Amino acid sequence: MKFFIDTAEVKEIKEAASMGLVDGVTTNPSLVAKSGRKFKDVLLEICDLVKGPVSAEVVSTNYDGMMKEAREYAALRNNIVVKIPLIAEGLKAVRTCHEEGIKTNVTLCFSATQALLAAKAGASYISPFVGRLDDVSTNGMQLISEIVQIYDNYNFETEVLVASVRSPMHVHEAAMLGAHVATCPLSVLLQLCKHPLTDLGLAKFLSDWEKVPK
Ligand code: G3P
Repeated sequence: MKFFIDTAEVKEIKEAASMGLVDGVTTNPSLVAKSGRKFKDVLLEICDLVKGPVSAEVVSTNYDGMMKEAREYAALRNNIVVKIPLIAEGLKAVRTCHEEGIKTNVTLCFSATQALLAAKAGASYISPFVGRLDDVSTNGMQLISEIVQIYDNYNFETEVLVASVRSPMHVHEAAMLGAHVATCPLSVLLQLCKHPLTDLGLAKFLSDWEKVPK
């Protein structure tokens, strides 16, 4: 299973990468706004740090605008994946990107049928937002299970990229379901390695070590 980090903060990417937890990076307009920096500057800096796929989201909502942005991003670095919203115009852009060899991450997916359309259009990744579904009393992980099954049934190559991850349980379930990727904020990546018994055990080992004659 691949771990991407969901951030536009270079410092966070470096921290996660030092633990070997950055197979790729996802960004979105909200995360870029939070960074307070110009997107192109951040994007290039991230691409210089990370060899894996780096998602850059388009902000146009029509086919021509999306394709213009997609071609511009794709020309910047060969690990850039163009993030495209799951709307009808977006699917047209995904299809053209697929024909042109531009990798895409189809975002804002909230249903299994949306995911099916994205795969048929040739998406490289589908991003179902599990946390936002949980927020509206709908089981986000159930959606992942359905998409994994549908993609399996028809041998789609589109990778399931679990997004809007809010807790270690999302990552655990994603891994159990065989999702290809989970994109997590740094806070979740750090939570994943925590266990109270590890902390207690370490404290005990260290206090016992004090008793060892030196
Ligand atoms: O990059 C998309 C995604 O992971 C959004 O997460 O927490 O804003 O729902 P969140």
